[in-house]
Amino acid sequence: MVNDLFQKIVSLSKRRGFVFQSSEIYGGFGGAYDFGPLGVELKRNIKKAWWEEMTRGQENIVGLDAAILMTPKVWQASGHLTAGFADELVECKSCHKRFRIEEIKENKCPQCGGKLTKPRKFNLMMKTFIGPVEEKAAKAYLRPETCQGIYVNFENIVNSMRLKIPFGVAQIGKAFRNEINPKDFIYRTREFEQMEMQWFSQPKDAPKYFEYWKKERINWYLNLGIKKENLRVREVPAKERSHYAKRQIDIEYKFPFGWQEIEGVHNRGDFDLSNHSKYSGKDLQYFDEENKKKYFPYIIETSIGVDRSLFAFLADSYLEVKGGRTKTTKSSKETEALLKLHKSLAPIKVAVLPLVKNKPKLVKKAKDVYKTLKSHFVCQYDEVGSIGRRYRRQDEIGTLFCLTVDFDSLKQKDLTIRERDTMKQKRVKIKDLKETIDKILRIRYKA
Ligand code: GAP
Repeated sequence: MVNDLFQKIVSLSKRRGFVFQSSEIYGGFGGAYDFGPLGVELKRNIKKAWWEEMTRGQENIVGLDAAILMTPKVWQASGHLTAGFADELVECKSCHKRFRIEEIKENKCPQCGGKLTKPRKFNLMMKTFIGPVEEKAAKAYLRPETCQGIYVNFENIVNSMRLKIPFGVAQIGKAFRNEINPKDFIYRTREFEQMEMQWFSQPKDAPKYFEYWKKERINWYLNLGIKKENLRVREVPAKERSHYAKRQIDIEYKFPFGWQEIEGVHNRGDFDLSNHSKYSGKDLQYFDEENKKKYFPYIIETSIGVDRSLFAFLADSYLEVKGGRTKTTKSSKETEALLKLHKSLAPIKVAVLPLVKNKPKLVKKAKDVYKTLKSHFVCQYDEVGSIGRRYRRQDEIGTLFCLTVDFDSLKQKDLTIRERDTMKQKRVKIKDLKETIDKILRIRYKA
């Protein structure tokens, strides 16, 4: 059953244009995926929901978009060229945790008992060369996490925005890791996107903000419709923590293949700012004008993968109704799929459907409605197949409203509006459509 859901999500993703394997016509390229026409809308909606929450829903958080390429000195200071990311390690084939050889007893995973890979020299960072000649001096790395761009710009941001502690910096961007074993569809890939927020506070306040952000982040998923029973928090014990973390929790989601991390909340202490001060020679301490004191702020980080969360939103909203929800076609005995995505995540908000496609007046009317609405909502026009089949196609991709233009529409200047979740239909005047849709969105679906 569990693997069944996994297969269904992968199949739906390809069939309906959410996610494709990278370079598929060449047999694929490990650890990379492409987001199709619906996937890109869903992804943008997830990023928008996160960005709006962080920069507008919260107090005192500003944005940044730093370069993927940075001087390799950054990765010395961050520990990525040394700790964990560049050691001789073994990896558990089941849970993918990596361990130093001296941590291993009985040749099995200390965490889950799984089989281990042979020891190998790992560096998870992707190397590249700056300039056309592949010489040593020009070696650089694609960032394995987005947050370092925030730390190295700490002073620029404080000065340009005249920020006072506590404050946060949010960033969304690509990250790359040479994962040894990319797997589980878009769960573990070599190229992915992160949404990270770094919260700078006085060291004494860091534990309080850790709790605050833990709660806020869980609420974000719940507000976007993720079921409570599919989320849990794991306190990461000291020996498993990332090299920078004083405290770390994983927010885990119950994926079709089991509970796995979707987001981390980390108390990074002053690890990053003090190391970047040391390696760059720039004093990155914050000057507290009120108390006339200088100190390294502590950082609470929230770090979520866009791709992983997209997988979770798809899996969580997927619903099958045996025997059919719609009674409009003979085939209603079939199992019907529904993607009950939150209104702000649904890739298509409105589908406009002429009842039949061989009546030019009807088609013209439907196309006029489509043209008017598409500047307000992401819309799709669909005239192929029976009306019942078209409803089901739209339900399967999570479209919130289907508007059907029929013969009465020509006389009465109205049409039928059908809601995805209730399948309730009512007639609405075409001139009132935008207002009606806005109103239903406000009332029927959670904010
Ligand atoms: N700056 C801290 C940091 O990067 P992390 O736990 O290594 O922490 C944070 O990564 C999040 O990034 C993860 O919870 C996950 O959602 C996402 N992520 C990390 N590696 C990934 C991969 N190989 N594929 C997809 N997402 C990944």
